[in-house]
Amino acid sequence: MNTTLVINSKGGVGKTTITTNLGSYFAVSGVKTTIMDYDPQGSSLHWLRQRSPESPPIHGANGGSGRSTGLRSHARYVPADTQQLILDAPAGPSKLLLQEMLERTDCIVIPVAPSAIDIQATANFIKDLLLVGGVRHRNTRVAVVANRVRSSTAVYEPLERFVASLKLSFLTRILDSEVYIEAAETGQGIFEMDAVHCAAQRQEFMPLVRWVTGEELPQETAPSNVIPLKYSRG
Ligand SMILES: Nc1ncnc2c1ncn2[C@@H]1O[C@H](COP(=O)(O)OP(=O)(O)O)[C@@H](O)[C@H]1O
Ligand SMILES: [Mg+2]
Repeated sequence: MNTTLVINSKGGVGKTTITTNLGSYFAVSGVKTTIMDYDPQGSSLHWLRQRSPESPPIHGANGGSGRSTGLRSHARYVPADTQQLILDAPAGPSKLLLQEMLERTDCIVIPVAPSAIDIQATANFIKDLLLVGGVRHRNTRVAVVANRVRSSTAVYEPLERFVASLKLSFLTRILDSEVYIEAAETGQGIFEMDAVHCAAQRQEFMPLVRWVTGEELPQETAPSNVIPLKYSRG
């Protein structure tokens, strides 16, 4: 089982959007997929409930703490045959919850919105994550995705410089598009909706899929300053 944690200290940056569309990709590819929603807002689980019975199945698990929410253990159950597990994190998780999520994580995807304030906040979050999370010791891969990008590349220079300075991978820019809003509302993903309608979105999403599955980024889609990260033990 490969486990991906989608996380940022901020809300509204696209954690759920990335979680559900990644899940949708795996599901349509016939991969046994589970989404575990750690956010009390439950947006991923809500999206799963919107899915039609004909859609490729994705198992939903509730990551909410059993002790504090009184959830029964079956809500947290992750089927043993799950091949891709995606964890949708809440904004500002406690240190304890962060540890819990990181313990089961192979790779971390951090969506960032294209504003100077968000980039700064995310920079601080990533520094903390690399320090306190034990991420370095467990060989966890970390990558950043720019989300809700509107236009020019210029906005991203500071982000790309920062990501490169930490030797993280900058995977892709996801444009601001109504397609994602439509997908969120209908319990679908861009890989399940009309291929022509979603062609650009699918293309911009693929570097993320490839990175999560451990495939190398083809040269032509790799941003010029990508530095793949694999922290070594010790
Ligand atoms: N690339 C995008 N284009 C358009 N809308 C987006 C995009 N990414 C996210 N959104 C919308 O922004 C809102 C917040 O995104 P969401 O994924 O729920 O963020 P988070 O889980 O980090 O709080 C949602 O309404 C979502 O549909
Ligand atoms: Mg969310």
